[in-house]
Order: sequence, then structure tokens, then C-alpha cells
Amino acid sequence: MVEGIFNNKLSDVSTTSLLTLYCHGKETKSKNPILQDNKAVELIEKLNPELSKLDNNLYRDLVKNKLDRKLVAYITLRAKKYDEYAKEFLQRSPEGIIVNIGCGLDTRFQRIDNGKLIFYDLDLPPVISLKKKLLPSSDRYNFLPYSVLNYEWMEQLDRWRDRPFLFMAEGVFMYLQDRDVKSLVLKLQEEFSGSELICEVFNSFWLQKPQKKIIDLVLQGELHIGKEATFNFGIRDSKEMEKWRSGIEFIEDWSCLDEPEKKLGLLKFLKHIEIFRKTLWSVRYKLN
Ligand SMILES: C[S@@+](CC[C@H](N)C(=O)[O-])C[C@H]1O[C@@H](n2cnc3c(N)ncnc32)[C@H](O)[C@@H]1O
Repeated sequence: MVEGIFNNKLSDVSTTSLLTLYCHGKETKSKNPILQDNKAVELIEKLNPELSKLDNNLYRDLVKNKLDRKLVAYITLRAKKYDEYAKEFLQRSPEGIIVNIGCGLDTRFQRIDNGKLIFYDLDLPPVISLKKKLLPSSDRYNFLPYSVLNYEWMEQLDRWRDRPFLFMAEGVFMYLQDRDVKSLVLKLQEEFSGSELICEVFNSFWLQKPQKKIIDLVLQGELHIGKEATFNFGIRDSKEMEKWRSGIEFIEDWSCLDEPEKKLGLLKFLKHIEIFRKTLWSVRYKLN
């Protein structure tokens, strides 16, 4: 058992990292798994004894494996796609550096490591403090305990400035404010010219008042996520970030509903309605 892992008490937003970890674990143990994440299973076994002692609806659901099948399919399809993006980046740029922004407890490095990869896991200090107790860092696997909005973390990467960079933000930007995401993307463009950014985005249509209530109901009512973990940032269209400054170039986007995956169940049928196909989706940009 891992002692005292919740000494720092995770914020509502950071607690969502447990949800994605448990989705990975559940899917790994299922028939025909979308994602093979044995490290997640290992971490869950370490966390379960501690979480099961806490009086919290989300933790109770996690420990009892009460996770919606479609949510598990969505989260693991997303992780698999981001793994593919990362591997494809490394094929194009073998000396490239990957920074996983808002990494949570995800074990991407362990899933994709090719023996040479230099990888940075960035998250808020309480998450990194927990993650450090579960996974050892190394000369190639590093932790950045910062808010992504405190740009001091960029200085930690100074020695790699001549290398290609890939920034990944999976399930993170929607929790931030519009102005903060915009400043961050512009700062990445200034500091890491030529880098790539892959980020999951939320459709701002759903941030309008009546719709927003439904989203909060799902997050808080169904998933038992705390009130602070609400969606704030959204865009309407994948090319929207191009308008923020010239040099930001849209490359491609991806919606998990496009995947021919039976485990998505009835969600698959929503892909024909654009506002559902792009409720949450991912976009790849080049930051020139
Ligand atoms: C839904 S989890 C996603 C975790 C991981 N990317 C995954 O897919 O498993 C959201 C993560 O974003 C992190 N996060 C939220 N705001 C952040 C910030 N300002 N700086 C760094 N990380 C942040 C949270 O702590 C949490 O770990």
C-alpha cells in the first residue's frame, strides 16, 4: 500500500486524473481491449486500498469498477490515438522531446518508450507528488510539478531548445479559462517555434447557459466529479486557433466517434450530427 498519498489532497480538477487511470485499467482487463495499459492496472492495485478508505462517491465508484462502458471506450480510444500521435512524431523526429501537459496519472511514457525517448510529465504539484510515489523518474522520464500557466516550467527545457518538441494536452484545456489557453498557446509558439501541439478541445456551443447545465449534470451528477472541475474553455471550429496569430497552422483533427469501435455503443450514431461529433475532439497544430 502507498502511504499518505492524499496528504496534499487533490483538487476537483486533479481528481479527474484518477478517473482516466481507472478507465485505462478497466479496459486493459476487458475482452479485446482498446488499450493495453498494464502499468495502469499496477497503479490501481496500489491505490485501491487507500481510496477504498475514503468517503467519496467517485473513489467508491472507481474502486468498485463502476465505470460507464462508453466512457471507458471514449477515454481509452483517446489515449490510444495520442499514443499513435506520439509514436508517429518520434518516427518523424527520433530526437524529439515530448511534453505531456496535464499528464495526470497517465502512463504514456511507459506505453510508448522506445529506449531513447525523452519525455516530460507536467501537472500540478499535488498530482506530480502522487505520481512520483507510484512511478520512478529517470534520465529520460522527467516530472514537471507546475501549473502549465506558470511558464517557469519552460526554463526546465532550455537544454533541449535545438530539438523538435511535441506538446500533448489530453483532457486538460477545457478546465482552463479562454484567456489562459490562448496565452499558453501563443507562449508555446514564441518559445518553441516549429513545435507541434495536440490538444483535446471542447465545443463552446455547449458552454452556453442551457447546454452547460447538462454538461455539469453529467460531470457532477453521473461521474461524481467535484464542482470545481467544470468546463470553461471551448472553440467552435478546429481552425479557430489559427486566428489567434499567424504561424499557428491547423494540421488535422480527430473525433473518437469516427472510430469503428463497437464498445462506443449508441454513441457511434452521434457522429452524423456535427455538434455531437465535435463535442470533445482533438486537434493537431504546428506552431511556426
Ligand atoms: C482529465 S485529467 C487528464 C489526465 C491525463 N492527461 C489523461 O488523459 O489521463 C486532467 C488533468 O489536468 C491537470 N490540470 C488541470 N489544470 C492544470 C494546470 N493549470 N496545469 C497543469 N495541469 C493541470 C489536472 O491536474 C489533471 O491531472
